[in-house]
Amino acid sequence: MDEARLKLAVQKSGRLSDPSLELLGRCGLKLSRGKDQLLGFGENMPLDVLFVRDDDIPDLVEEDVCDLGLIGRNVLEEKRLELAAQGRAARFETVRTLDFGRCRLSLAVPQESPWSGLESLRGRRIATTYPYLLGDFLRARGIRAEIVTLSGAVEIAPRLGRADLICDLVSTGSTLAANHLREVETVLESQALLIRTPLPLAPSKAEWMRRLLLRIEGVQQVRESKYIMLHAPRSALPDIRRLLPGSESPTIIPLEGSSERVAVHAVCRENVFWETLESLKQAGASALLVLPVEKMLS
Ligand code: PRP
Ligand code: ZN
Repeated sequence: MDEARLKLAVQKSGRLSDPSLELLGRCGLKLSRGKDQLLGFGENMPLDVLFVRDDDIPDLVEEDVCDLGLIGRNVLEEKRLELAAQGRAARFETVRTLDFGRCRLSLAVPQESPWSGLESLRGRRIATTYPYLLGDFLRARGIRAEIVTLSGAVEIAPRLGRADLICDLVSTGSTLAANHLREVETVLESQALLIRTPLPLAPSKAEWMRRLLLRIEGVQQVRESKYIMLHAPRSALPDIRRLLPGSESPTIIPLEGSSERVAVHAVCRENVFWETLESLKQAGASALLVLPVEKMLS
């Protein structure tokens, strides 16, 4: 592989795959994927994407096979604890918290099982693919329970009699519902992170890393941002400014043929909901228009 190009590890197929590629696309990256689909070549940036199992991403970054990785906090923290158990410190660094891949590692019991708080865990068997995070959670609360480490299909362990309850990732909750399980306690909140090797990068790579990070920031800001335009009487401006969510100083433009009415243009760094528009209208605004923002660079 070309040493002058940044290498970024991304989950091959799973909850982070599509949003990861979408983020890179919005950062302007054009990828061509070869037949084996394991390596994506950046056509317009010196950046290549390796498609791998999410559990392998921390190791790939640790071992400098990749400079960067897009990974869930759940996988990263499990790895960190696993390394700590071996007396090693993790060598990856988190550089950005991203706005996708939100899910949580939770304890869930069979629908009909009683639950009266963490005390109910004592002496029970808990199936999970996250033995280190679960072990840490139990230790911190002084609870002795048996951890049954599985490599997958955790949600069917109670029905098979292999465990009394489970500790698994939940995002929509549909897997739990389909398996008649009830979420009772959160062990870890998770979302996607960008991690990097702690080793210094060659100057050209470092420069592209810097640019990529700036673009990621821009993309994340823009996702929530809206451009809002409206007409209003001057006298209503103080109220209207208070109602505009997360906006800096708006642009006020006089309207032709009217000394009292003005146009207000503003970037709102939050979503603009119908409720806000209704309040703005009540405050005297009319001709309200909300537009998505495509790119932003400050
Ligand atoms: C997790 C978990 C459940 C599912 C929960 O697996 O093991 O099967 O997601 O999601 P839901 O609440 O939306 O139904 P994941 O897809 O992350 O697979 P992996 O652990 O093998 O990476
Ligand atoms: Zn996985």
